[in-house]
Amino acid sequence: MTEPTEFLIENASLVLPDRVVEKGWVAVVDGKIAEIGEGNAPERGLDFAGDYLVPGLVELHTDHLEAHFAPRPHVRWHALSSVMAYDAQIAAAGITTVFDSLRAGSDADSISIGTDLAVLASAIEAARATGHLRVDHRTHLRCEIACGDVIEHVEAYAALYPVHMMSLMDHTPGQRQFKDLETWRRYYMRKKPMTDEAANSFIANRLELHANNAGPNRLKLVTIAGKAGAVLASHDDATEAHAAEAVGNGVALAEFPTTIEAAVALNQAGISVMMGGPNVVRGGSHSGNVAAEELARAGVLDILSSDYVPASLLMSAFELPRRIPSIDLASAIRTVTQTPARATGLADRGALEAGLRADLVRVHVSGRDSESPTPIVRRVWREGHRVS
Ligand SMILES: [Fe+2]
Repeated sequence: MTEPTEFLIENASLVLPDRVVEKGWVAVVDGKIAEIGEGNAPERGLDFAGDYLVPGLVELHTDHLEAHFAPRPHVRWHALSSVMAYDAQIAAAGITTVFDSLRAGSDADSISIGTDLAVLASAIEAARATGHLRVDHRTHLRCEIACGDVIEHVEAYAALYPVHMMSLMDHTPGQRQFKDLETWRRYYMRKKPMTDEAANSFIANRLELHANNAGPNRLKLVTIAGKAGAVLASHDDATEAHAAEAVGNGVALAEFPTTIEAAVALNQAGISVMMGGPNVVRGGSHSGNVAAEELARAGVLDILSSDYVPASLLMSAFELPRRIPSIDLASAIRTVTQTPARATGLADRGALEAGLRADLVRVHVSGRDSESPTPIVRRVWREGHRVS
């Protein structure tokens, strides 16, 4: 890259970890934040004209690569081209650190199965090796514990590449996200219509896989995560028993708990609770579970994730203070920056603080005084390099 990594930003609203400075400046040297000040800058720099400066966002669970790689049910797009398009979209959403959520374990209704994991992993590595990635990509393996081949997939991946995060998922009908079979039927019939007979045999098959595999695979995956040094996440916890199981497995963060009871129990156990940005923006869960806003009001929401819409990460962080007066903008921005960085052991980023990476986002709020203000990403830097 040829652009200088030494520059000054002035006349910006700085979103610091604990407060917003209405007018301030930031000096960047060698890809790091060198100095932060309030009021007029010591010399002229890039004039933000009052726009917000927020730290680069940290995204822990996005499956958006699949949208580029499998744009139609039976189509697989060119892998490297998919990675580059996904990377560009992630950067344009203000995200500078992304955990690519790759499915491990063949799933009868999944779009990314079997050898696709290896294909995507090698495409990401190829893009990284040539220095073409805008965003810092890390790996989150989404392990479907009821699948017969999940251990094989994870071991094959871990033999070749670092694994930074693993989540233990169980989407068996009647479990967690689909706590009763009717919820599952409603959700899947909309996604993939089938006859009652086909649905019954699909359910019977999934229940059998669950009975045979879920218990032993969970324990094996916990051991693999320990060896790989991966942060462990639980997924769709629905009950206090699920929260206790997460504690027993050494889980650090809980993705998308489906009830307030589970979220409160996880919070009390010191596990970070993560919910979806689309859930906040849309005002509820797409599969009928607890609203992220309800957890935020109860003070048990720590992290937001863009889940299936990259742009929702910044939007949801700006939306929280509008919905919940006790949450200010600085706290809301922490849910998409500092808290996910800390939960995954990344101490060098996630805040506007001297000495940290200059991962920076210029945000203009369109229609600031209107009914529905919309944050727009205008520029993004990763370690001082402009990436969007
Ligand atoms: Fe889920």
